[in-house]
Amino acid sequence: MNHEGKVAVVTGAAQGIGLACAQRLHAEGAKVILSDVQVEKAMAEAQALDASGKSAIGCRTDVSVQAEMADLVGMAVETFGSLDIMVNNAGMGIGASVLDISEADFDKVMGINLKGTFFGSQEAARVMVNQESGGAIVNMSSAQALLAIPESVPYGISKAGINQLTRIFAISLASRGVRVNAVGPGTILTELAKNAVLTSEESYRKILSRTPIGRCGEVEEVASVVSFLASSDASYVTGQVIYPDGGRMPVNYTMPVDHLPPI
Ligand SMILES: NC(=O)c1ccc[n+]([C@@H]2O[C@H](COP(=O)([O-])OP(=O)(O)OC[C@H]3O[C@@H](n4cnc5c(N)ncnc54)[C@H](O)[C@@H]3O)[C@@H](O)[C@H]2O)c1
Repeated sequence: MNHEGKVAVVTGAAQGIGLACAQRLHAEGAKVILSDVQVEKAMAEAQALDASGKSAIGCRTDVSVQAEMADLVGMAVETFGSLDIMVNNAGMGIGASVLDISEADFDKVMGINLKGTFFGSQEAARVMVNQESGGAIVNMSSAQALLAIPESVPYGISKAGINQLTRIFAISLASRGVRVNAVGPGTILTELAKNAVLTSEESYRKILSRTPIGRCGEVEEVASVVSFLASSDASYVTGQVIYPDGGRMPVNYTMPVDHLPPI
């Protein structure tokens, strides 16, 4: 894709999928702001992209605080002159059953995943509707927006909410030059997945039994979809969720797992 002349903000960009998105958008010409609560890591990754800071900078933003999202978007415009691409990627989960989940844990996951994505979209859209070139917002959803896991309560609910807020923003802003889409990965090899679900051979087998392609995804295989949705090649696409999930969504019964690829 060509993102020459564009300015992109990626939240949760210190590692994993967010970092891959920032790297991909930067490689394709965008100036990028890598924001994260892990500020040192975000700044180091920005430096690795461009030590001069002219086309990549890192900063600290807690996406669950609206004022920090407003500051992040303001900083992007002040530093690079516009905001063309907003990738609301930061997210996390806390494992607990419907009977056990506490109010504090529920609020934490919702605050980061759902509220963070909502206000990230709102702050970005407020800038984009006033730009002649409009803009593109890409939200990080999950296969869990549609497929339920009993121990993943607020996470799945938050991702389902992200799908709906994506559609609501999309139709609200369609006539104002702003496209809003989401990406719903299956199981991708990141710290989040390794700590949460790839914890034993049994759970790895369970995951692959629902992954027809027969392996987990790589972060670059999500970043490529984000890049497409953010690009002018997707100029007629809005309000959609695309699932880079190795074929999980259409599977009804489970798949045989003869081989466990190394992770
Ligand atoms: N890895 C997967 O299998 C998978 C599958 C579906 C969806 N996702 C989604 O992709 C996104 C990225 O996940 P990942 O696998 O790269 O996880 P990760 O844990 O490797 O990265 C998440 C990043 O978000 C940052 N972050 C956490 N809380 C934050 C906050 N309050 N403010 C700002 N940054 C914050 C973390 O510091 C981290 O750098 C998440 O939204 C996740 O739900 C991941």
